[in-house]
Amino acid sequence: MIPINKIYNCEVLEGLKKLPDNSIDCIVTSPPYWNLRDYRVDSQIGLENHPDEYIRKIIDIMKEFRRVLKPTGTIWLNLGDSYYKNKGRDCKSNWLQHKQKLLIPFRVAIKCQDDLGLILRNDITWIKQWCNFKTKDSAGSVTPTSVKDRLNTHSESIFFFVKDKKYYFNIDKIKIPCRDLKIKTGKNPGDSIIFPLEPSREKHYAMFPKTLPEFCIKAGCPEMVCKKCGTPLLKIKVGGNINSFNFRVRDVKKGRIKSLDRRASSKETKKYNEKSYMPKSKEKIILACSCNSGFKPGIVLDPFMGSGTTALVAKRLNRNFIGFELNKDYLKIIEKRLSQEFSNE
Ligand SMILES: C[S@@+](CC[C@H](N)C(=O)[O-])C[C@H]1O[C@@H](n2cnc3c(N)ncnc32)[C@H](O)[C@@H]1O
Repeated sequence: MIPINKIYNCEVLEGLKKLPDNSIDCIVTSPPYWNLRDYRVDSQIGLENHPDEYIRKIIDIMKEFRRVLKPTGTIWLNLGDSYYKNKGRDCKSNWLQHKQKLLIPFRVAIKCQDDLGLILRNDITWIKQWCNFKTKDSAGSVTPTSVKDRLNTHSESIFFFVKDKKYYFNIDKIKIPCRDLKIKTGKNPGDSIIFPLEPSREKHYAMFPKTLPEFCIKAGCPEMVCKKCGTPLLKIKVGGNINSFNFRVRDVKKGRIKSLDRRASSKETKKYNEKSYMPKSKEKIILACSCNSGFKPGIVLDPFMGSGTTALVAKRLNRNFIGFELNKDYLKIIEKRLSQEFSNE
């Protein structure tokens, strides 16, 4: 494994080849969209003449994602769509008609299901601006357009994929308050989410708002994994008091990760108590392996690192990170943002 907590200046597939099989806990990324921006660098993705060529490249990358991802891992793929502009291209299909919305993100998602065998758990709609047509209220912001013969695009897809049926997912970390019901438990945030765009002085035009990787990492990247076998340690909030250190959570999890469910040995209990892994009140821990080798943070990968937002957020959330970025100028932005973050510690 190449050293972690670094961003490498390289092409995405070249970088992915350096990663061993089953080594990454969580992938959060946004490749360039087809025919939208020129990142002014050779080998960039997104400027292919035909959208099929673009889709093929993204699928090759997703295949590598599947290889490097641990069986317990999660993939969060943000993709925006494009409208076809004829530009004198030889258009021979019904699909490639001038003005057509191409549905590229969904074509990619379907190929990931059909050809790669990935399991799609959610297609999250990232809402950038919404309107209530009854009250005529609106909120959020998007780049304005002068288009008059269709609606402006105010949302993008974030596909949440896994490669195995049993995977790490911590819903407790992304629950939102049930204000309407005046009860303390949070609720599932659902699959239509506003991640407001954040203003920035950096010279990168497609930056994630920090809340987007924060959401994906909190839900999909374990805080701790076994140092030896890499299996996630899962903390689960439960009601009532915990009187003894007990990994058994069958009552509350009702089989979701039942095969991982077991009681800790007295030796393990002693070891984790000493290392202050004692759960806080209302928190139980699932220990899914018996290596007894201690723990390290989970690893987040973003192979289209851009301005470094995923790395920055991973660092803030005490996860490890690794990333690739083709454009050297962006590496400088990443270094600056990360060093500011590290110096704030
Ligand atoms: C949509 S931006 C990612 C922005 C990022 N999420 C952020 O918050 O700043 C896509 C990035 O992929 C990079 N890129 C394009 N083609 C690439 C390739 N073949 N390999 C690696 N990076 C590439 C571009 O330079 C660009 O910075």
